[in-house]
Amino acid sequence: MATQAKTIEEPKPIPTVSGLPLVGNTLEMAKDPAAFFVRCYRDYGPVYRVNVFGQKSYVIAGPEAGKFMNTKAARNGLRSKEFWQGLVDHHGASKTLTGVDGEDHQKMRAIMRDGFSRNAMFGRYHELTDIIDISLARDWNEEAVPVVEAFQYMIVHLLGEVMTGNAPLEYVRDIRVNILYILNVLVTKQRPGFMIHMPEFKRASKRVDELGQSMVDEFFAHAEAGTLPKNLLGDVMRGHLDDPELIQKRDLKLVLTGPYVAGLDTVANTLAAAVYGILKTPGVLEKVQAEADELFARDVVTERDVLGLDYIQSCLKEAMRLWPIAVAQMRTTNHDLEFEGYVVPKDETIFIGTSVPHFMEEFFPDPMKFDPDRVDRREHLKPGAYAPFGRGTHSCLGQSLAEVMMGICIARLFHRMNISLTSPDYVLKTKTAPTPGPAMSFKIKVDGERNPAKSLDAEILGEAA
Ligand code: HEM
Repeated sequence: MATQAKTIEEPKPIPTVSGLPLVGNTLEMAKDPAAFFVRCYRDYGPVYRVNVFGQKSYVIAGPEAGKFMNTKAARNGLRSKEFWQGLVDHHGASKTLTGVDGEDHQKMRAIMRDGFSRNAMFGRYHELTDIIDISLARDWNEEAVPVVEAFQYMIVHLLGEVMTGNAPLEYVRDIRVNILYILNVLVTKQRPGFMIHMPEFKRASKRVDELGQSMVDEFFAHAEAGTLPKNLLGDVMRGHLDDPELIQKRDLKLVLTGPYVAGLDTVANTLAAAVYGILKTPGVLEKVQAEADELFARDVVTERDVLGLDYIQSCLKEAMRLWPIAVAQMRTTNHDLEFEGYVVPKDETIFIGTSVPHFMEEFFPDPMKFDPDRVDRREHLKPGAYAPFGRGTHSCLGQSLAEVMMGICIARLFHRMNISLTSPDYVLKTKTAPTPGPAMSFKIKVDGERNPAKSLDAEILGEAA
């Protein structure tokens, strides 16, 4: 493991955030982790110690931390293994992309880059729009639609189709239950370990396992026949055949769940937050509808059209600023780590509070206001200010995919449906587990259809595609 010569003669003492006996800072953190990290940054500076969920950890936060994550010192000084080990062990796998570092991580990212990128959606916007319509017809026809849950079903279906070429509808519910337990119990550990024995999880897990096995078998058959498809699973299978030590056979099933672990709750929460911001903020809905209607006035929608949804993308950016799904990134220190005149000791758990500047007046005037026009004022571009997709070596590999997927989901929803908050006074309630975001209780009213479900024509792709 890398070592680092200490260059600071007298490091600054690291303050400990005062808390309650026994539970320390757990309650404040569990209530609103983003607000907790911001308060501590203001009160204690960019480095402090906290006692949360029964563990003492270090925090580095603010724009300094965001900039630090892109440096060589962070690359060499931080590792991700421990955070993801529970998931790896649960599946009897050897590793997962999110939990490896160094050369193996770079090789795995290279194999998965294309499958996780928006290339996976290229030329397929008509299919994806059909999936969104199916999901709108199925889950968005009640008087009070639970927004996060309805988006979760939509996203499982979309991700399954895009990443693996297969979105078995009869498994959608199992995948959703399975992933929520995995995130809650094995990854973020916000729920106790015994919950892994709950019948609901065991049932869902068994079904997802069956699905994984059948897909792996199918992919081996493709490999033998020389017909591996060009998607994430196909690329991973090729990676396994080229280097069976890097991507081991026992890792393949985990790859199937990878896109859902990374993409399901992140996207569903962000979309739900965006819906709230759009419906709640005067003047925003009309602009979103106008942009969405212009998009679907076309018979064919291309990637360029989706990337051109400027106002909708600004709404999504604001949703990710105000309701970031990753308030902090979690790591372990490889060696004594210097940061801003402090030294965080080796082998300690450390939170990197990259979302702290999202709530700072210095970067975003009137920070609690949902204001899509900030994007035109380039507030998000200030160094270290904005990092919803994380920073550094493990930053989101699915960012470009997430952006277009969320763009088309919002555009289609607001083009097709008239929706409103259950009351104009409604103020969004939030949750922290498994992923911070709008509470499951957040509901909207469907007031009727704005436009019928007219299918798009398939794009005729040229040779280059
Ligand atoms: C709103 C949507 C999303 C947000 C805000 C988001 C955010 C993040 C963040 C903050 C990280 C870094 C975690 C860390 O450093 O510990 C990350 C990693 C990752 N994300 Fe996303 N994500 C989103 C959607 C997606 C989607 C749709 C996919 C693909 C299906 C995806 C795939 C990944 C992968 C594979 C990684 C791990 C990269 C690595 O470890 O090298 N994400 N994401």
